[in-house]
Amino acid sequence: EHRPLAFDASILGSESNIPSQFIWPDDEKPCLDAPELVIPTIDLGAFLLGDSLAVSKAAEVVNEACKKHGFFLVVNHGVDSGLIDKAHQYMDRFFSLQLSEKQKAKRKVGESYGYASSFVGRFSSKLPWKETLSFRRLYQEYCEARNKVSQEIMGLLGISLGLDQAYFKDFFEQNDSILRLNHYPPCQKPELTLGTGPHTDPTSLTILHQDQVGGLQVFADEKWHSVAHIPGAFVVNIGDTFMALTNGIYKSCLHRAVVNTETVRKSLAFFLCPKLERPVTPAAGLVTAENPRKYPDFTWAALLKFTQNHYRADMKTLVAFS
Ligand code: SIN
Ligand code: FE2
Repeated sequence: EHRPLAFDASILGSESNIPSQFIWPDDEKPCLDAPELVIPTIDLGAFLLGDSLAVSKAAEVVNEACKKHGFFLVVNHGVDSGLIDKAHQYMDRFFSLQLSEKQKAKRKVGESYGYASSFVGRFSSKLPWKETLSFRRLYQEYCEARNKVSQEIMGLLGISLGLDQAYFKDFFEQNDSILRLNHYPPCQKPELTLGTGPHTDPTSLTILHQDQVGGLQVFADEKWHSVAHIPGAFVVNIGDTFMALTNGIYKSCLHRAVVNTETVRKSLAFFLCPKLERPVTPAAGLVTAENPRKYPDFTWAALLKFTQNHYRADMKTLVAFS
C-alpha cells in the first residue's frame, strides 16, 4: 500500500509533536547509542595493483565479512573527493527546493526512479523520516565512477569465492543500476522514528557514502550496531540478489538508518543491479552436495516488482512466491 504524504521537512523538522504515522512500535524503536560494528576495510587500490599477497589477503577478509553479515568498507577507491563533494552540494540544492518543485520529479508508484517523500513502502509499516531522489541518467559521472568501483569489487568477490575474477564482472557488465540520494531532516524525537526502517537490500551490491553525521545501523550477532563514518570510505554491502548468485554463501543482512535532533543527514547509495530480464542463477561451483540449491531462478525485474508490492519482502518470501 503506497500512501503519499506531503512530507515537508521544514515543517516537520520544527515540530516536537511527531505525527503518529512516523512513530514505530516499541519493539522496533531505534537504539540511538548502539555499539559500533567493527567491519573490515579493503584497500581497493592495493588490490588493483595485483600483488598476489595483497589480493589473497583482501579476498580472505571479504570472504569472512560476507559470510557473517555482508558489510565491509572500501578505501582508496579512486573516486575523486571533489566529485563526492559536488554530489553532496547538488543534493543540498535539490532538497532545499520547495516541495512543489521537488514533486515535479515525483516517483510514480511501482517505479524506481524519481523523488519520494514519506510513503508506506516495502521497508516498513511506518513512515520513514526522510525524502529521497533516485535516478540513473542524471549524475552520470558519479554513477560511472561508482559503477567502476562496483565492477572492481565484483572481481574481488569472485576471487574470494574461488571463482574466476571475471565471473561476476561479466555478469554485471551490463546492469540496471540505481543511484539514490537520501535526505534525513533533523527530528525532535529521534528515539521514536527511523530514517529508514529495517530492511535487506533486494539489489546486488550497495555502495554507500554516508556523510559525517553517521546513522547507519546493522543487525549482526542478534543485535543492532552502528557503523561509524570514516572520511572518504564507502560502506559496501551485499544485497539479496547477490546472496542468490552465491547460493546463500554470502549474506544480505538487515540494516536501517537513525536520525538525530541536531542536523540533516545525507547518504548516497549506488545500487548495482543485474539487467532487468537476466536470469539470476547461482554460480555452478557454489552449488554442492553440502550446499544444495537455495533459491529458484528469478529475474531482477520480478524481484523488484515483488518488493514494491510486499511489506518487507526478502529472499524468504521470494522463495515462497516462486
Ligand atoms: C538504506 O539502507 O536504504 C539507507 C542507508 C543510509 O542512509 O545510511
Ligand atoms: Fe539499504
